[in-house]
Amino acid sequence: MQSRIPLRALPTTAGQQDAQPLMTPVSGPLEDRFGRRFSYLRLSVTDVCNFRCNYCLPDGYQCSTTPEPLTLTEIGRIARAFAAMGTRKIRITGGEPSLRKDLPQIIRVLKQTPGIDTVALTTNGYRLTHQIGDWADAGLDQLNVSIDSLDPQQFRAITGHDKLQEILTGIQLARNAGIQHIKVNAVLLQDWNMSAFPQFLAWLKHEDVTLRFIELMQTGDNQDFFAANHVSGALVREQLLRSGWQLQARGRHAGPAEEFAHPGYRGRIGLIMPYSKDFCSSCNRLRISAQGKLHLCLFGDEGFELRPLLQDDDQTLLQQRIHELLQDKKATHFLQQGETGAVRHFAMIGG
Ligand code: 5AD
Ligand code: SF4
Repeated sequence: MQSRIPLRALPTTAGQQDAQPLMTPVSGPLEDRFGRRFSYLRLSVTDVCNFRCNYCLPDGYQCSTTPEPLTLTEIGRIARAFAAMGTRKIRITGGEPSLRKDLPQIIRVLKQTPGIDTVALTTNGYRLTHQIGDWADAGLDQLNVSIDSLDPQQFRAITGHDKLQEILTGIQLARNAGIQHIKVNAVLLQDWNMSAFPQFLAWLKHEDVTLRFIELMQTGDNQDFFAANHVSGALVREQLLRSGWQLQARGRHAGPAEEFAHPGYRGRIGLIMPYSKDFCSSCNRLRISAQGKLHLCLFGDEGFELRPLLQDDDQTLLQQRIHELLQDKKATHFLQQGETGAVRHFAMIGG
C-alpha cells in the first residue's frame, strides 16, 4: 500500500510566517507547506449543467450573471503555466463540459501542451454517444461518467433525465473509440440508490470499468438532503472487505480514492471517502473554476482570481502568483465540523 505523504509541521512563529513570501519559489514543482505535490489539475470549463441531480442542482441550473467562462486562449495559458510547474494530468470538469461547443478544441489544446501527458474528462454522459468520436480524435485519454444508479427509474429520479440506457451505450462507444481508462462515478445516496447497490456489483462481474462510489458531501445548498442521505463510506468499505474485495496498492501519485479488486469480478471499485481521517494527506490536486479562479480545496473559501493574469502571455507572473497562493493551502478541509466553505454546489467547481 502506498505510504501517504506525511504532513509536515507548520512554521508557527510570526517571524517565520512573515518570511514566507520571500521564500516562495517562482518556478519549479508546485509544493505546499506540507510537502504535498500537485501534479493534477481539475479545470472547470463551464458552470452550466443540464442535469438536475438531487444532491447538486435539484432545481436545475439557475442562470446567473457570472462572467463568461474561460476562453480557449486563457485555457491554453493556464495549461502551459501548470505544466511548467509539474502538472502532468488535467481533468476537464463543469458543470457539464460537453455543453461547450468548443470542447474538442479544448481537449486538443490541453493535449498539445508540452508536459501534459493525460487529458481526462468528467461528464454526465448527456452527449456521450454523439460526441465521443470527436473527443477521442482530439486526444482524450480518460473518461469519467456519472451514473448514480443502474436502475433506469432511479437514475431518472436522481438526475431528471431518462438517459441511463443511452449513457451505457456511450460507454461502449468510448471503449470502441480506444479510450482505455473509463471510470463510472456513483454518489452513495441512502434513499435513492442504496436499494440498487447489488445491481452495481452484478454489473462489475463482466464490465471492465472502475466504479467509484463517492460518499455524499455536504455543500452550502444540500444540508437537509445530506442529513437524510449520507451513507458512511467506511461501512461500504467494511462490506466490500467482508465479501472478498481486496484493497489494492496505490500508485505514488494516486489521489485520495481507495481501490478494490475481486478475483470473481472484471471491474474494480474505487471508494472516495472525504470524511475519512487521512483523506487530505494524499491531496494531489488543485482546481480552476470556469471563471478562472484558483481553488486550493474543494471546500475552501472563495477562489483566487487569476483571470487578469491570463490576458497576456506573461507566464512568469502567472506562475509566480500560483506559487504564492499555494502557500495558503490548508492541511485539511473542515467538513467534519460542518464547514462546507464557499461552494454552494459542485456544479460551481466540478466536484
Ligand atoms: N457529494 C459527492 N459527490 C458529488 N458530486 C457532485 N456533487 C456532489 C456531492 N455533494 C459528484 C458528481 C460527479 C462528480 C463530478 O462530482 O456526481 O460524479
Ligand atoms: Fe449532476 Fe454533475 Fe450536473 Fe451537478 S454538475 S447536476 S452532479 S451532472
